[in-house]
Amino acid sequence: MKSYRVAIVGCGSVVGNHMRALRAAGERVDVIAAVDIVEDRVKSFCAEYHIPNGYTNTTDMLSAIQPDLVHITTPTSTHFDLTVESLRAGAWVLCEKPLCASLAQFDQLEKIEASIGKYIGTVFQWRFGSGAKHLKRLMDAGELGRPLVGVCDTLWYRGLPYYIIRCPGVANGQPKRAAQPSHWEFT
Ligand SMILES: NC(=O)c1ccc[n+]([C@@H]2O[C@H](COP(=O)([O-])OP(=O)(O)OC[C@H]3O[C@@H](n4cnc5c(N)ncnc54)[C@H](O)[C@@H]3O)[C@@H](O)[C@H]2O)c1
Repeated sequence: MKSYRVAIVGCGSVVGNHMRALRAAGERVDVIAAVDIVEDRVKSFCAEYHIPNGYTNTTDMLSAIQPDLVHITTPTSTHFDLTVESLRAGAWVLCEKPLCASLAQFDQLEKIEASIGKYIGTVFQWRFGSGAKHLKRLMDAGELGRPLVGVCDTLWYRGLPYYIIRCPGVANGQPKRAAQPSHWEFT
């Protein structure tokens, strides 16, 4: 069985979930490198998970390691560039949400995928949560009639910096999470 060579980019809060999933894949994956711009963070992450190669720069990691798959778990504003760079280096990508900051960027990613033949997965777990699935079932069964309006509530507090997406032409401070399940239900 082929073992896929995986690199992690971003060693912060959410990366532990990715590591659990990768470890659960057993011998099918080998996490061989990690990157974080904070050197101490990548060092302690590599030590904790027994990852042999640590970098503070993704470009260096991609050229030295040439991974099959890159998990991107960095802040939102970096996702698009790191995804493009990883694809162009010949890797498949699993990127944390949100994948990018606009439909225009999404179109660019689709074009790059098609031209290179490597593809991106992204995290959309709320879309498949029990609440969203139940609502979708009710809608499909006609229980709710024809949907006329969709309302999204984000029922937890995050400060403004959490929502800031730095992208030319895109307003800062956009809520990025709550739109995911409703987009799925209403399209
Ligand atoms: N799916 C979920 O439920 C879920 C939960 C939390 C966070 N997230 C997403 O995951 C991403 C990361 O969130 P987090 O809470 O782990 O953030 P975090 O700030 O805890 O960790 C991000 C890490 O990336 C590093 N980093 C920043 N820029 C980098 C770069 N250019 N190259 C390499 N490393 C870089 C930082 O030093 C930091 O260690 C965010 O986009 C967030 O939206 C998703």
